[in-house]
Amino acid sequence: MFTPVLSAGWSDADSFTLDGYTRRGGYTALSKALAMEPDALIALVKESGLRGRGGAGFPTGMKWGFIPQGDGKPHYLVVNADESEPGTCKDMPLLMANPHSLVEGVAISSYAIRASHAFIYIRGEVTHIIRRLQQAVLDAYAAGHLGKDIGGSGYDLDVVVHAGAGAYICGEETALLDSLEGYRGQPRLRPPFPATHGLYGSPTVINNVESIASVPSIVLGGADWFSAMGTEKSKGYTLYSLSGHVKNPGQFEAPLGITLRQLLDLSGGMREGHTLKFWTPGGSSTPILTEEHLDVPLDYEGVGAAGSMLGTKALQCFDDTTCIVRAVLRWTEFYAHESCGKCTPCREGTYWMVQILQRLEDGTGSEEDLATLLDTCDNIFGRSFCALGDGATSPIVSGIQFFRDEFIQHVTGKGCPFDPVASTVFAGATA
Ligand SMILES: Cc1cc2nc3c(=O)[nH]c(=O)nc-3n(C[C@H](O)[C@H](O)[C@H](O)COP(=O)(O)O)c2cc1C
Ligand code: SF4
Repeated sequence: MFTPVLSAGWSDADSFTLDGYTRRGGYTALSKALAMEPDALIALVKESGLRGRGGAGFPTGMKWGFIPQGDGKPHYLVVNADESEPGTCKDMPLLMANPHSLVEGVAISSYAIRASHAFIYIRGEVTHIIRRLQQAVLDAYAAGHLGKDIGGSGYDLDVVVHAGAGAYICGEETALLDSLEGYRGQPRLRPPFPATHGLYGSPTVINNVESIASVPSIVLGGADWFSAMGTEKSKGYTLYSLSGHVKNPGQFEAPLGITLRQLLDLSGGMREGHTLKFWTPGGSSTPILTEEHLDVPLDYEGVGAAGSMLGTKALQCFDDTTCIVRAVLRWTEFYAHESCGKCTPCREGTYWMVQILQRLEDGTGSEEDLATLLDTCDNIFGRSFCALGDGATSPIVSGIQFFRDEFIQHVTGKGCPFDPVASTVFAGATA
């Protein structure tokens, strides 16, 4: 059932080096790709069914196909390595353990869209990973996998690793472009879309780290091999990140469509003596689910049908010691802090939602506060300039949907009934 691809070799001591990657067959996909026509590569990725792993699941090959050809403008590939959604922790481990899978993917993808410059926009706080990625890029240049006349093919590519300055909104693709251009990172109005007016006003493809790192395996294995994994509309393998009150948190590579129950069975389950209370399927922007959703197939369609979103496949698991109000308050504080301030519903709404949730958690809230919270969410969802605003409403609406009684209990009991220490003892603990 499992054939590790991206995570193959992670346990090798030299998994992150050029030698280690080359020994496992690294950069042979690049040679194969450079012997193909760029359009054939785009067709291959389309046929594979690869969908973007950054959250929205947009078909990657189709996105590449939107880049106008023969337009005389420079084309750019921009890799989104800004990973900062609460609970999401797959791109950073991937870059730490196997940065060359991304570098090779960048070279192939840039060639496919006829770009001679690529940028990797990486979260600024992860200095150890930035260094590792920079080293991988330098080593790839030295080995002739990047730079001029790659592998004697006549194709030139320069790759820049650019560190951000720690703003969640810069993971939103158009805010990322503004930040990369040196402006304050705030989302752009669309249309026009980046495919025609992206970086410096030129056609640009923006893809997630995992999406691009998956490309070499598709070139080597073929579209049929890739699409044989996964489900009808969600093809291939992917990285699921298990975190929270579980015995063995970490990365689990599996075909799309596996369930949380299977992943928990494989990884040792929840911490001893406790049961699952709620979980996020794809980070805090995706509505929470509960124990009754343990058998939901973790693909785009399955999670959507359950009322949430697959997002980044960040499976944050919370057990029975966790106060829903407190968890939702923490997430909402994050969104209020990270709101870029460009539009009123999100800027003002997230601020006021924190005040209300804080009241409820402190025991000074009222039942009316619940209605006000839901009303505020209603005014943010679909009325904000970008998806951060929509995401900020997810924990609140789903939290009240599944745990209304617990919210009310905070009002009638005039405070939080949970022990804050018990829920903050994490993996491996038996508290
Ligand atoms: C607030 C916000 C933050 C985001 N952060 C990230 C991120 O850190 N990494 C990422 O790949 N996509 C992030 N996205 C999604 C990107 O806008 C974009 O959809 C993605 O990079 C496209 O790549 P893909 O098609 O390969 O998934 C974010 C979106 C929003 C609204
Ligand atoms: S929704 Fe929030 S993050 Fe997005 S543009 Fe509006 S204020 Fe900025």
